Amino acid sequence: MNFVKAESYEQLSKFAANIIAAQVILKPDCVLGLATGSSPLGTYANLVKMCDAGELDFSKVTSVNLDEYAGLTGDNDQSYRYFMDTNLFSKVNIDRDKTHVPNGCAADLSKEGERYDELIKSLGGIDLQLLGIGLDGHIGFNEPDDVFTKETHLVTLDPSTIEANARFFASKDEVPTQAITMGMMSIMQVKKVLLIANGKNKKEILEKSLYGPITPQIPASILQLHKDLTVIYSEN
Ligand code: GLP
Repeated sequence: MNFVKAESYEQLSKFAANIIAAQVILKPDCVLGLATGSSPLGTYANLVKMCDAGELDFSKVTSVNLDEYAGLTGDNDQSYRYFMDTNLFSKVNIDRDKTHVPNGCAADLSKEGERYDELIKSLGGIDLQLLGIGLDGHIGFNEPDDVFTKETHLVTLDPSTIEANARFFASKDEVPTQAITMGMMSIMQVKKVLLIANGKNKKEILEKSLYGPITPQIPASILQLHKDLTVIYSEN
Protein backbone atom coordinates (compact mmCIF):
# COMPACT_ATOMS: atom_id res chain seq x y z
CA MET A 1 0.00 0.00 0.00
CA ASN A 2 1.15 3.54 -0.73
CA PHE A 3 -0.02 5.89 1.99
CA VAL A 4 0.26 9.60 1.27
CA LYS A 5 -0.47 12.14 3.97
CA ALA A 6 -1.54 15.39 2.39
CA GLU A 7 -1.30 18.71 4.19
CA SER A 8 -4.71 19.92 3.17
CA TYR A 9 -7.80 18.96 1.22
CA GLU A 10 -6.48 21.12 -1.64
CA GLN A 11 -3.24 19.17 -1.74
CA LEU A 12 -5.05 15.84 -1.50
CA SER A 13 -7.22 16.87 -4.44
CA LYS A 14 -4.19 17.86 -6.54
CA PHE A 15 -2.39 14.61 -5.77
CA ALA A 16 -5.44 12.52 -6.61
CA ALA A 17 -6.05 14.42 -9.84
CA ASN A 18 -2.41 13.99 -10.82
CA ILE A 19 -2.63 10.24 -10.34
CA ILE A 20 -5.79 10.06 -12.45
CA ALA A 21 -4.20 12.35 -15.06
CA ALA A 22 -1.15 10.07 -15.21
CA GLN A 23 -3.47 7.13 -15.87
CA VAL A 24 -5.20 8.98 -18.71
CA ILE A 25 -1.87 10.11 -20.20
CA LEU A 26 -0.39 6.61 -20.07
CA LYS A 27 -3.52 4.93 -21.43
CA PRO A 28 -5.80 7.45 -23.20
CA ASP A 29 -8.53 4.82 -23.70
CA CYS A 30 -8.50 3.69 -20.08
CA VAL A 31 -11.54 2.77 -17.99
CA LEU A 32 -11.86 4.99 -14.94
CA GLY A 33 -13.95 3.90 -11.99
CA LEU A 34 -15.41 7.03 -10.45
CA ALA A 35 -16.98 7.94 -7.13
CA THR A 36 -19.35 10.53 -5.72
CA GLY A 37 -19.61 12.21 -2.33
CA SER A 38 -17.88 15.37 -1.19
CA SER A 39 -14.37 13.89 -1.10
CA PRO A 40 -13.79 13.73 -4.90
CA LEU A 41 -15.13 17.23 -5.64
CA GLY A 42 -11.68 18.85 -5.44
CA THR A 43 -10.16 16.06 -7.51
CA TYR A 44 -12.74 16.59 -10.24
CA ALA A 45 -12.21 20.38 -10.14
CA ASN A 46 -8.48 19.82 -10.73
CA LEU A 47 -9.14 17.44 -13.62
CA VAL A 48 -11.41 20.06 -15.18
CA LYS A 49 -8.63 22.66 -14.85
CA MET A 50 -6.12 20.35 -16.53
CA CYS A 51 -8.54 19.64 -19.34
CA ASP A 52 -9.25 23.36 -19.80
CA ALA A 53 -5.52 24.01 -20.00
CA GLY A 54 -5.23 21.41 -22.75
CA GLU A 55 -3.12 19.16 -20.53
CA LEU A 56 -5.57 16.30 -20.44
CA ASP A 57 -7.74 14.62 -23.04
CA PHE A 58 -10.74 12.57 -21.96
CA SER A 59 -12.03 11.88 -25.46
CA LYS A 60 -11.11 8.20 -25.42
CA VAL A 61 -11.81 7.56 -21.73
CA THR A 62 -14.66 5.35 -20.55
CA SER A 63 -16.00 5.76 -17.03
CA VAL A 64 -18.00 3.53 -14.74
CA ASN A 65 -19.41 4.84 -11.50
CA LEU A 66 -19.66 2.88 -8.32
CA ASP A 67 -23.25 3.38 -7.33
CA GLU A 68 -26.61 5.12 -7.63
CA TYR A 69 -29.56 5.71 -5.36
CA ALA A 70 -32.55 3.46 -6.06
CA GLY A 71 -35.52 5.34 -7.46
CA LEU A 72 -33.72 8.52 -8.56
CA THR A 73 -33.65 9.35 -12.25
CA GLY A 74 -30.53 10.86 -13.81
CA ASP A 75 -32.13 14.31 -14.01
CA ASN A 76 -32.87 14.37 -10.28
CA ASP A 77 -30.30 16.72 -8.80
CA GLN A 78 -29.64 14.30 -5.93
CA SER A 79 -28.81 11.39 -8.22
CA TYR A 80 -25.23 10.35 -8.69
CA ARG A 81 -25.66 10.56 -12.48
CA TYR A 82 -26.57 14.22 -12.05
CA PHE A 83 -23.60 14.72 -9.68
CA MET A 84 -21.20 13.28 -12.25
CA ASP A 85 -22.71 15.21 -15.15
CA THR A 86 -22.52 18.45 -13.19
CA ASN A 87 -19.12 18.11 -11.55
CA LEU A 88 -17.15 16.36 -14.24
CA PHE A 89 -18.69 15.03 -17.42
CA SER A 90 -20.16 18.31 -18.68
CA LYS A 91 -16.89 20.10 -17.96
CA VAL A 92 -14.38 17.84 -19.70
CA ASN A 93 -14.24 16.42 -23.23
CA ILE A 94 -15.46 12.95 -22.27
CA ASP A 95 -17.94 11.29 -24.63
CA ARG A 96 -21.11 11.12 -22.53
CA ASP A 97 -22.04 7.81 -24.19
CA LYS A 98 -18.92 6.36 -22.62
CA THR A 99 -19.93 7.38 -19.10
CA HIS A 100 -21.76 4.73 -17.13
CA VAL A 101 -23.67 4.95 -13.85
CA PRO A 102 -25.91 2.14 -12.60
CA ASN A 103 -29.56 2.81 -13.43
CA GLY A 104 -31.30 3.27 -10.08
CA CYS A 105 -34.67 3.28 -11.84
CA ALA A 106 -34.33 0.01 -13.74
CA ALA A 107 -37.53 -2.04 -13.49
CA ASP A 108 -35.56 -4.98 -12.11
CA LEU A 109 -32.61 -3.83 -10.05
CA SER A 110 -31.08 -7.29 -9.75
CA LYS A 111 -31.05 -7.57 -13.56
CA GLU A 112 -29.51 -4.10 -13.66
CA GLY A 113 -26.73 -5.40 -11.41
CA GLU A 114 -26.07 -8.27 -13.83
CA ARG A 115 -26.06 -5.86 -16.77
CA TYR A 116 -23.59 -3.59 -15.00
CA ASP A 117 -21.20 -6.42 -14.18
CA GLU A 118 -21.37 -7.63 -17.80
CA LEU A 119 -20.68 -4.10 -18.98
CA ILE A 120 -17.56 -3.82 -16.80
CA LYS A 121 -16.42 -7.21 -18.06
CA SER A 122 -17.01 -6.20 -21.69
CA LEU A 123 -14.87 -3.10 -21.14
CA GLY A 124 -12.00 -5.33 -20.04
CA GLY A 125 -12.25 -4.27 -16.39
CA ILE A 126 -11.36 -1.03 -14.66
CA ASP A 127 -7.88 0.46 -14.86
CA LEU A 128 -8.13 2.85 -11.94
CA GLN A 129 -10.87 3.09 -9.33
CA LEU A 130 -11.31 6.23 -7.27
CA LEU A 131 -12.92 5.57 -3.89
CA GLY A 132 -14.11 7.57 -0.93
CA ILE A 133 -14.95 5.95 2.37
CA GLY A 134 -18.06 6.24 4.50
CA LEU A 135 -17.91 6.74 8.25
CA ASP A 136 -18.96 3.11 8.74
CA GLY A 137 -16.26 1.92 6.32
CA HIS A 138 -18.51 1.57 3.29
CA ILE A 139 -17.04 1.81 -0.18
CA GLY A 140 -19.44 2.52 -3.01
CA PHE A 141 -22.55 1.61 -1.06
CA ASN A 142 -21.21 -1.70 0.26
CA GLU A 143 -22.42 -1.41 3.82
CA PRO A 144 -21.18 -3.41 6.85
CA ASP A 145 -22.55 -6.92 6.54
CA ASP A 146 -21.85 -10.55 7.45
CA VAL A 147 -20.43 -11.25 4.01
CA PHE A 148 -18.67 -9.38 1.23
CA THR A 149 -21.04 -9.28 -1.76
CA LYS A 150 -19.28 -9.88 -5.06
CA GLU A 151 -21.74 -8.63 -7.65
CA THR A 152 -23.37 -5.27 -8.33
CA HIS A 153 -26.39 -5.43 -6.06
CA LEU A 154 -29.22 -3.63 -4.32
CA VAL A 155 -28.47 -2.53 -0.75
CA THR A 156 -30.47 -1.08 2.07
CA LEU A 157 -28.57 1.88 3.40
CA ASP A 158 -27.41 1.95 6.99
CA PRO A 159 -29.18 4.51 9.19
CA SER A 160 -25.73 6.10 9.76
CA THR A 161 -25.21 6.47 6.00
CA ILE A 162 -28.65 8.01 5.57
CA GLU A 163 -27.78 10.40 8.39
CA ALA A 164 -24.40 11.28 6.85
CA ASN A 165 -25.82 11.79 3.36
CA ALA A 166 -28.84 13.78 4.56
CA ARG A 167 -26.72 16.94 4.30
CA PHE A 168 -27.15 16.81 0.52
CA PHE A 169 -30.96 16.59 0.74
CA ALA A 170 -33.62 19.03 1.96
CA SER A 171 -34.41 16.63 4.80
CA LYS A 172 -33.42 13.19 6.05
CA ASP A 173 -36.77 11.79 4.90
CA GLU A 174 -35.82 12.53 1.30
CA VAL A 175 -32.70 10.34 1.35
CA PRO A 176 -33.47 7.12 -0.55
CA THR A 177 -33.25 4.09 1.71
CA GLN A 178 -31.83 1.84 -1.00
CA ALA A 179 -29.10 2.02 -3.60
CA ILE A 180 -27.46 -0.11 -6.23
CA THR A 181 -23.71 -0.55 -5.87
CA MET A 182 -20.82 -2.23 -7.56
CA GLY A 183 -19.81 -5.23 -5.49
CA MET A 184 -16.45 -6.26 -4.14
CA MET A 185 -15.52 -8.40 -7.14
CA SER A 186 -15.45 -5.47 -9.57
CA ILE A 187 -13.71 -3.29 -7.00
CA MET A 188 -11.05 -5.86 -6.11
CA GLN A 189 -10.43 -6.71 -9.78
CA VAL A 190 -9.46 -3.15 -10.73
CA LYS A 191 -5.82 -2.68 -11.61
CA LYS A 192 -5.24 0.29 -9.33
CA VAL A 193 -7.24 1.62 -6.37
CA LEU A 194 -7.03 5.25 -5.27
CA LEU A 195 -8.76 5.86 -1.95
CA ILE A 196 -9.14 9.42 -0.75
CA ALA A 197 -10.32 10.54 2.67
CA ASN A 198 -10.21 13.83 4.45
CA GLY A 199 -11.21 15.17 7.83
CA LYS A 200 -10.49 14.14 11.40
CA ASN A 201 -13.79 12.24 11.49
CA LYS A 202 -12.49 9.79 8.87
CA LYS A 203 -9.25 9.00 10.72
CA GLU A 204 -10.54 6.25 12.97
CA ILE A 205 -12.40 4.31 10.26
CA LEU A 206 -9.46 4.69 7.91
CA GLU A 207 -7.08 3.24 10.49
CA LYS A 208 -9.46 0.37 11.23
CA SER A 209 -9.89 -0.30 7.50
CA LEU A 210 -6.20 -0.26 6.64
CA TYR A 211 -4.62 -1.78 9.72
CA GLY A 212 -7.38 -3.72 11.50
CA PRO A 213 -8.84 -7.14 10.79
CA ILE A 214 -10.25 -7.78 7.32
CA THR A 215 -13.96 -8.15 7.88
CA PRO A 216 -17.20 -7.46 5.96
CA GLN A 217 -18.26 -5.45 9.01
CA ILE A 218 -15.72 -2.89 7.77
CA PRO A 219 -16.14 -3.21 3.99
CA ALA A 220 -13.09 -1.07 3.10
CA SER A 221 -10.85 -3.48 5.05
CA ILE A 222 -10.89 -5.83 2.03
CA LEU A 223 -8.70 -3.27 0.24
CA GLN A 224 -5.76 -4.48 2.36
CA LEU A 225 -5.72 -7.45 -0.01
CA HIS A 226 -5.47 -5.32 -3.15
CA LYS A 227 -2.06 -5.40 -4.77
CA ASP A 228 -2.05 -1.78 -5.92
CA LEU A 229 -3.69 0.45 -3.33
CA THR A 230 -2.86 4.13 -2.89
CA VAL A 231 -4.46 6.02 -0.02
CA ILE A 232 -4.32 9.79 0.26
CA TYR A 233 -5.46 11.25 3.57
CA SER A 234 -5.61 14.77 4.83
CA GLU A 235 -6.72 15.69 8.32
CA ASN A 236 -8.23 18.98 7.19
C1 GLP B 1 -21.51 7.99 -0.27
C2 GLP B 1 -20.97 7.30 -1.53
C3 GLP B 1 -19.58 6.76 -1.31
C4 GLP B 1 -18.72 7.82 -0.66
C5 GLP B 1 -19.27 8.14 0.69
C6 GLP B 1 -18.43 9.15 1.46
O1 GLP B 1 -22.18 7.16 0.58
N1 GLP B 1 -21.81 6.24 -1.96
O2 GLP B 1 -19.04 6.35 -2.56
O3 GLP B 1 -17.39 7.36 -0.55
O4 GLP B 1 -20.57 8.69 0.49
O5 GLP B 1 -18.81 10.43 1.09
P1 GLP B 1 -18.04 11.75 1.46
O6 GLP B 1 -16.88 11.80 0.53
O7 GLP B 1 -19.03 12.82 1.20
O8 GLP B 1 -17.65 11.64 2.88
